Amino acid sequence: MKSLEEFSGLPIEFDPETFELRSTKRDWSLPEPALKMLDELRPVLRDPDCKGPDIVYWMYRDISLAKHAGLKDETGLRYDISVFRGDMLGTEFFKTAGHYHPYISDLDWKYNLSWPEVYEVLYGECIYVLQKVDDIYSDRFYGKVDDFIIVHAKPGQKVVMPPNYGHVTINARPGKPLVMSNWVCNWFKSYYDPVAAARGFGWWLVTEGKGKNKKSGWMPNPNYKQPLPDIREAKTLTCEALGLCEGAPMYPIAAAKPEKFEWVCKPQNYLEAMWASLELR
Ligand SMILES: [Fe+2]
Repeated sequence: MKSLEEFSGLPIEFDPETFELRSTKRDWSLPEPALKMLDELRPVLRDPDCKGPDIVYWMYRDISLAKHAGLKDETGLRYDISVFRGDMLGTEFFKTAGHYHPYISDLDWKYNLSWPEVYEVLYGECIYVLQKVDDIYSDRFYGKVDDFIIVHAKPGQKVVMPPNYGHVTINARPGKPLVMSNWVCNWFKSYYDPVAAARGFGWWLVTEGKGKNKKSGWMPNPNYKQPLPDIREAKTLTCEALGLCEGAPMYPIAAAKPEKFEWVCKPQNYLEAMWASLELR
């Protein structure tokens, strides 16, 4: 068992062999996780017929300590933790289904703006993929990718998913599980279908060849209009304006001072700060 308290700020521990996540406090427990099955993930894979375990990830949604039980209803802020396997999915690195967030409809805002989200790595290592397409509603097959950004992250690091960017999480360490948390607004449902229609995002991270000829790299997904935009790499930066500090877990900060995370549910005044948290190379 590995304690995840240092990076999450919560009394939890994780078993990388069995994928079990549990509370270390007697009078407090985690909610039952929702399961993601391999069969549900197949439509977004480069190799939809690949072999793999039945359960591919566990989503513990709406976690809160008893003293913060009213936070979600009062502010809209919801805290989740997800546990991902590290198995390769055919030739592809392990990844999540990927989704877009819908546009915020009740704002007096002149541009189409969707809800953001913030991720934090608790165990393992990952690559967050951020993809912007020309219009998430007009073209079911998302013909044109406008922007494609990847962000590497290690335990303790937080990464903002800015508005209007769909996101996929890739486990960067095959064979090793990944645990991460997020703060997200509870006022919407994510939009998954278009990612399945295009079999994932614009670029797939794959490993091909055997032995000495084994190579990993990004491969263009032909279901999008070619050529695709170049892959841009970004580094995540500490951003105090968003309540994000490296080395300081984001659960206790947001739970104690939810106003610091107001941007998660009301992003319109924080666009600049969100982009300032990503240093594009
Ligand atoms: Fe999301």
